[in-house]
Amino acid sequence: MARFTIIGTGTMATAIGGVLADGGSDVAYIAHEQVGTAPVDGDVVVLAVPYPAVDAVITAYGDRLAGKTVVDITNPLNFETFDSLVVPAGSSAAAEIAARLPRNHVLKAFNTTFAATLASKSVGGTTTTVLIAGDDAASKQTLADAVRAGGVAAVDAGTLARAHELEALGFLQLTLAVSESIGWTGGFAVVR
Ligand SMILES: NC(=O)c1ccc[n+]([C@@H]2O[C@H](COP(=O)([O-])OP(=O)(O)OC[C@H]3O[C@@H](n4cnc5c(N)ncnc54)[C@H](OP(=O)(O)O)[C@@H]3O)[C@@H](O)[C@H]2O)c1
Repeated sequence: MARFTIIGTGTMATAIGGVLADGGSDVAYIAHEQVGTAPVDGDVVVLAVPYPAVDAVITAYGDRLAGKTVVDITNPLNFETFDSLVVPAGSSAAAEIAARLPRNHVLKAFNTTFAATLASKSVGGTTTTVLIAGDDAASKQTLADAVRAGGVAAVDAGTLARAHELEALGFLQLTLAVSESIGWTGGFAVVR
């Protein structure tokens, strides 16, 4: 069973940590004020912070993250306009993070599931599905197994290049919720 360290103690950190703990995973949290000082014991590190904070977190831990699977959950929105992403066109937050972490397996996951649908494990009467993109099959399998053990579905969304599409999906879902076309307990479901 993998050990998880979740950096962040907010809405998503709590929801993701809840699912993982329900599945029997060992979950530890690092709060904002502990970043850089608290040890990262997990084999899998979930960056449950806003995209603009990721750079500082990576800088604070430097070599201490080497070799770990790093999970990017961010939706890198321009929160001033709510009309674009802040990453270069064609790229993704996950690709930018992977470029900064050449000694890590980076996964994109959880960005298309609102926190409430992770906590309830259901969206529109369907089991919530975590879409996972990444280049390392074993890392994806580890995360998928832990998510499924926690009562949520997981689907392999392909290589890390698919993070671009996952972020587009997350962006759209966010704009739908902000415009109140859907609720924060709603969102996209995956039916197999
Ligand atoms: N909420 C959702 O439904 C949802 C869905 C999909 C993806 N996401 C993504 O999940 C991530 C977290 O969102 P959230 O809704 O959980 O936000 P949140 O509730 O505001 O939590 C953010 C966490 O990050 C910490 N943090 C903020 N700035 C930091 C910094 N510079 N260094 C270290 N830690 C910092 C916060 O600590 P303090 O509060 O102490 O500052 C808090 O623990 C975001 O990237 C978001 O795009 C969210």
